Parts: sequence; structure tokens; C-alpha cells
Amino acid sequence: MVESISPPAQRGFADGAGFPRTRLRRTRNQAFSRALVRETGLEAGHLVCPAFVVEGNHLRIPIPSLPGIERLSIDELLREATVWFDSGIRAVALFPYIEPELKTLDGREAWNPDGLIPRAVQALKHRLPDLGVIADVALDPYHPAGQDGIVDDQGRVLNDETVDALVRQSLCLAECGTDIVAPSDMMDGRIGVIREALERAGKTEVQILAYAAKYASCFYGPFREAIGSARALGQADKKTYQLDPANREEALREVALDIAEGADYVMVKPALPYLDIIREIRDRFAFPTLAYQVSGEYAWLMAAIEKGWIPERPAVLESLICIRRAGAHAILTYFAPRVAAWLEQDHRGA
Ligand code: PBG
Repeated sequence: MVESISPPAQRGFADGAGFPRTRLRRTRNQAFSRALVRETGLEAGHLVCPAFVVEGNHLRIPIPSLPGIERLSIDELLREATVWFDSGIRAVALFPYIEPELKTLDGREAWNPDGLIPRAVQALKHRLPDLGVIADVALDPYHPAGQDGIVDDQGRVLNDETVDALVRQSLCLAECGTDIVAPSDMMDGRIGVIREALERAGKTEVQILAYAAKYASCFYGPFREAIGSARALGQADKKTYQLDPANREEALREVALDIAEGADYVMVKPALPYLDIIREIRDRFAFPTLAYQVSGEYAWLMAAIEKGWIPERPAVLESLICIRRAGAHAILTYFAPRVAAWLEQDHRGA
């Protein structure tokens, strides 16, 4: 037997403002008005797709800790990137898997004009000229220690020597047609020195995406496996150059410096645990702000999805709309191809 619900008491307006004059549920009641009051949108154009590139042909190598993501040889990358572009994604971020024999203490493969990334950039710009190509600037794929910079014999990462190497890498990437160079290394002063070198070389149109607030996070593990630097790094960490997760003001100082030095975008990384940082940067600097939903965030969501503990599509979309709501203009995410396909289906009313 269903118990009847007693009729509500009549509400008066005696006390002026507030309930029942205001009922926030009125606009929430129907889909059309929920759409009218929605404050944040998510479109494929807001997404940047990271891609792992490997030497070879017809290669698609699964990455165990990133289910659904593969290392792609350049021919396969072209095939995938075409699908991504057709679904509305407008930019990719490239990361290389470098064969161990090409890794050296000076990281010189990072500025080899015939290297894997320069060839991938050229192939992409040739096939899909309107797809923005972002390339990482850091030595970790190219160095046997798996650190982002040049390491001395005590294992210290040297700042100024590394910056010189990053300039060479940036010029090489600019030369082969990279639209955006993205220093992810967190060395001091690198944005200014790279900007100056690009200007001197006449590469005035090349954009710089500064990984400005990059934290020493444990959520990069699957990425390090994907680029083959995890074993080299071993128990070592990157705390002498990446930010302490406990710090907020230091992130703002990093961002202020990178903007002053000539960055075109600043990025916060990881994304979900650092939404407060995204919001504060956006409010304070009113500057193009990107967020990187990193490999460990992807793995974390995917593990629960694969166990059936949370539903894939709503969980992924919620994570991304929250990053946008926090203030990110655009988001690097391994979910990009899936999300773009879902959004396309929604537009078609499927
Ligand atoms: C390193 C770099 C890292 C990522 C992007 N560039 C990892 C690190 O700092 O060790 C992480 C991206 C991810 O986890 O998805 N230059």
C-alpha cells in the first residue's frame, strides 16, 4: 500500500525575498530551461588529443596502463588523426617513444631534424594542414635517466645546460613546422630564452604553450610507461623542478613569469586535483589557460569504468565539464577521440 502524501501548507510572501518567490528548481525542471541557464559548454574544439608516436610501419602497440590508447607509427597516426579531425578535434600533442639506443647523456636526438617527432610533424602538416600540432619540449624521452633535463654525475638536473638543449629542440621543432612548442620541463627561464631564439630565427608565428604549473605528481606513471622512461627513472622523482602539490602561490609565480617571458598559453597539470589552481590563474591573469587531464587521471577513471563501478560516458563528460567550469579554455585528454564522437552523435540527435 502506498501512503498518501499530505498536501503542502500554503506559503505566504510575507517575509519578502527568498522562498517561495525564488524556487531554483523552476529552471531546473525541464531540459530546455536547463540548457538556457547552462553556464559552461564542452565542444570537440576544446579538446587536444595527446598521441604517442613510435618508429615503424603499421604499428599500434597497446599501453597496458592506458587501456584503449596505443603507441602509433606515423602511418597509423595519420589515419587516426584524420578521424579525430573529422570529428572536430583541432589539435594534437605529440610524444615520442624513443628506442633505448638513441638515448644519450646530452639528449641530442631531441633536435635531430630527421628524428621521429620532426617526421611525424611534417607528415601531419602535409596531410592535415589545419590540424594544430603541438610538440613537447623536454629531454625525458631522449635521456637514459628519464629526467627532463641534463643530469650531472650526482644525478642533479642542471638548469642552464638543459635550457640550451631545449632551445635547440624548440628551433628544430619550429623548423619542421610545429605550430606550438610546449616546454614541459619546468626549468627556470626557459620560456624567455626559447622565445628569444624563435624570434631571432624568424619563427615569429610559432606559439609557446608553457607547462607553467606542472606539479610533481604521481599521476604521470602510465605516461612514463608509454614513452618508455619509467624504468630509467626507477625510484627517482622530479621534485627538484616540478611544483610541490601543496603549493598554490608558487604556481601563480610560475605563471606570472611564463607570461612575462612570452608564453602564448599557460597550462596546469594534472587537472582534476588542481581545479583551484586553474580557477585562480584564469581569474588573476585573464590569459589562455589549458589543463592536462593526465595519464594517471585517465587510468584512474578507466579502472573504475572497467570494473563497472562508474558509467563511462557520464563520468568522462562530467570530469571534462568540471575542468572547463574551473576555467580551462581547452583540455588535453586521452578521452578526446571518444568524447568528440559522443558530441557528434549528440549533434546528430542519435
Ligand atoms: C615530461 C612530460 C610528462 C607528461 C607530459 N610531459 C611526464 C613527466 O613529467 O614525467 C605527463 C603526461 C601524462 O601523464 O599524461 N616531459
